[in-house]
Amino acid sequence: MRKEFLMIPGPTPVHPDITREMSTPVFNHRGPKFKELLEEVTEGLKNFFSTKNHVYILTASGTGAMEAGIVNVLSPGDRVISMINGAFGHRLAQISESYGASVEKMESDFGEPLKYDLLEERLAQDTSKEIKAITVVHNESSTGMMNDVARLSRIRQKHPCLIIVDTISSLGAVSFPVDEWEIDVCLTASQKVLMMPPGLSFVSVSKKAWDSMKSASMSHFYFSLQRVQEFFDIGQTPFTPAVPQVVALRKALELYFSQGRENVYHRHEVVFQALRAAVKAIGLELLIKEEQLASRTVTAIKAPEDLDINQLRSTMRENYGVEIAGGQGKLSQTTFRIGHLGGIFEMDIIAAVAALEMALLEQNQEVELGSGVKAAQQTIMQMQ
Ligand SMILES: Cc1ncc(COP(=O)(O)O)c(C=O)c1O
Repeated sequence: MRKEFLMIPGPTPVHPDITREMSTPVFNHRGPKFKELLEEVTEGLKNFFSTKNHVYILTASGTGAMEAGIVNVLSPGDRVISMINGAFGHRLAQISESYGASVEKMESDFGEPLKYDLLEERLAQDTSKEIKAITVVHNESSTGMMNDVARLSRIRQKHPCLIIVDTISSLGAVSFPVDEWEIDVCLTASQKVLMMPPGLSFVSVSKKAWDSMKSASMSHFYFSLQRVQEFFDIGQTPFTPAVPQVVALRKALELYFSQGRENVYHRHEVVFQALRAAVKAIGLELLIKEEQLASRTVTAIKAPEDLDINQLRSTMRENYGVEIAGGQGKLSQTTFRIGHLGGIFEMDIIAAVAALEMALLEQNQEVELGSGVKAAQQTIMQMQ
């Protein structure tokens, strides 16, 4: 037995208070106790999302929320622009296409910024206002790039289309003011910044998106947000919710707000900076070089050509108990990723960097033991 370090871009380590909460005996989800719980966590989620919009709770992984966020507000044939620069951007496009939307993909290479100017031109040309929605991922976990959703929102200002944003791996780790940026549909999941196990996802819906819902005709059943709203009104969910998860959500929100939002942002920034400094000191290359564009929750690192990524990951796992992620999609053969969100703290990063150095050395890579650790330590101390 030894300590395991879960350093993937989610699920993140679950806080022990949350794990304990999940052992609460299951109770009736159609009784007064659940009604009270549902109302309390919904209020907490609105605060977490920085929104006055309603936030719906789904018993589903993040992809369920992605699907719900699309199928409730659009109709087959609707023109949708999917801004894509990674695997999850593709997923939003794929869901829209699966339900019959007419998707225009505005694609950048994995790890390249979105085509903001092209979108601006396209929206300006759309004088008949045919475009119904833009889909975008805020934090592309596949590449470690943080997209500029505030800019997208400004670009969209003169156009009536909806903006549907996946903030699954970022909400709560960095500022993302849903109402201020006029985000129509914002979605996230439990296993990321909230330090919960996977199983719940959350969707906020603006007044404008709610209005589109009334005429939207993409097919859906389990994910009908109108039905979720009808049941919310009587303090229930349409189908059996993951009761222990909802109980845990109350604790997760309590822990989040007791740390203080700004402190959580700061911790993510420190851990992000420490890892970046370490990677550079070790002599490895970051996929996203411009710090401003880099994700604060997941870092993709380019593998040297002669490095076997699977071997590196298994050495880190088997010899040191540190679990990191491989590359995703197009980047699976050339990068590996370290997740640093939710339940990851400064000392976890030190451990991960130490394990990375040792595993690299074991793979016959040139690395000076302690070089990355020292850089991470210095960064943490400077940012305290
Ligand atoms: C940005 C992003 N979108 C979507 C998903 C998919 O979420 P899930 O695996 O919970 O369905 C993930 C999961 O890692 C993600 O990071």
